[in-house]
Amino acid sequence: MVKFAQVKGFLFDLDGVIANTSVYHAKAWHQLADELGVTWTEDLGNQLKGVGRMDSLNLILKYGGKENDYTEDEKIKYAEEKNDNYLKLLDTLDKSEILPGMEDFIKDLAAHHYLISLASSSKNSPLVLEKLGLAQYFDEKVDPATLKHGKPDPEIYTRAAEVLNLKPEECIGLEDASAGVTSINGSGAISVGIGDPKVLHEADINFNDTSEVTLDNIKKEMDKKKVLDD
Ligand code: G6P
Ligand code: MG
Repeated sequence: MVKFAQVKGFLFDLDGVIANTSVYHAKAWHQLADELGVTWTEDLGNQLKGVGRMDSLNLILKYGGKENDYTEDEKIKYAEEKNDNYLKLLDTLDKSEILPGMEDFIKDLAAHHYLISLASSSKNSPLVLEKLGLAQYFDEKVDPATLKHGKPDPEIYTRAAEVLNLKPEECIGLEDASAGVTSINGSGAISVGIGDPKVLHEADINFNDTSEVTLDNIKKEMDKKKVLDD
């Protein structure tokens, strides 16, 4: 792992890292799972985190043993229905749903001239960032529609570093999802997992929640790792 002083950029997931919106994604998927007769479990919810729209639907159908029950057109209709329900839940979204400490953290990064990019699989991420009033802090955003592979494939984090003209090794990626941590690790960036360390055990650095995510704490954790590596 590089030293903290060599870090130049930060690559952000959105849902569950910057905003509380992963709860709304889960609510809308849960609603659809009920309609499709697939039993919702915490494990299924964790598997869906960070995963793109159609891949999520396919995971739900597979989980319920229904992967061959629907045509592509029917699946597109169900995915649209989930998205309509998700958008309804976003109606009242505002700054108050930025997760604890994240606004200050992002402002601190900008003040220290780190480059910042967005690595969210969500096609709704521009809308969400605008509603949160945080769009201006992002130097670049990866458009998930331009990707060949979703998380856990490394493509989105490789691209998130590339759009900043940085090597992944010079960047730190932040994730709340296991699929996202796998994606960061595959790209070569340093992975910060935010949430249950048992679920995010592959991350280079773990924090239990967003309020612990500060430049000082990241530096401390990287220094600890450096000592262990030596
Ligand atoms: C994020 C969320 C997932 C969501 C995916 C696609 O990664 O964590 O829960 O399924 O984006 O979002 P979209 O808004 O494009 O359906
Ligand atoms: Mg997420």
